[in-house]
Amino acid sequence: MAYTLPDLPYAKDALGEYMSAETLTYHHDKHHNAYVVKTNELVEQKGLGGRSLSDLIRHANSKGDKGLYNQSAQIWNHSFFWLCLAPPEGQKPTGRLAEMIDADFGSTDNLLAELKKEAVGHFASGWAWLVLDGDKLKVTSLHDADTPVAYDEMKPLLTLDVWEHAYYIDYRNARPDFAEKVLGNIVNWDFVAQNLDGNGVSRADQDG
Ligand SMILES: [Fe+2]
Repeated sequence: MAYTLPDLPYAKDALGEYMSAETLTYHHDKHHNAYVVKTNELVEQKGLGGRSLSDLIRHANSKGDKGLYNQSAQIWNHSFFWLCLAPPEGQKPTGRLAEMIDADFGSTDNLLAELKKEAVGHFASGWAWLVLDGDKLKVTSLHDADTPVAYDEMKPLLTLDVWEHAYYIDYRNARPDFAEKVLGNIVNWDFVAQNLDGNGVSRADQDG
């Protein structure tokens, strides 16, 4: 068995002006796929087959195998990122998620402003995250390919890819516009709410 590129959970033109079909063609079909291909090559070379993707990421991290960690973490990060997005239908957080956001950030607008600040302020490549830390929501970011899969205290809820390859086609170099438009219009808040069960890692996992 080998790791595979998961299908996008929507059509390539479904995210409208916020993330174009051209961006998804490059980002999913080329960038994300390249991490899958490279990880499979490394797993075969190293004889590490038969692990779930999350187990492989944790194994690479525990062995200090930075090359394998980066490639495999990027498979998971991107798989999770696609699930965090949905066509623009005016979606907002509801129910328990909305209550937790109000308790920890004051309002959804404040949370989105915090996430945007984190995304824009993150130096160079990486990922902005909303995570569950104990019973609190927390905004943070991780560098390059680093992933919550490797940290027990970070239960992933929502992410935004802030590598330049995520926005250069639609937004050129304007990371602030990218963060504002994506976070404000195409977040799949039902998926974010589902991850409050602490099992976010499993939703972008796969067998090896
Ligand atoms: Fe990416």
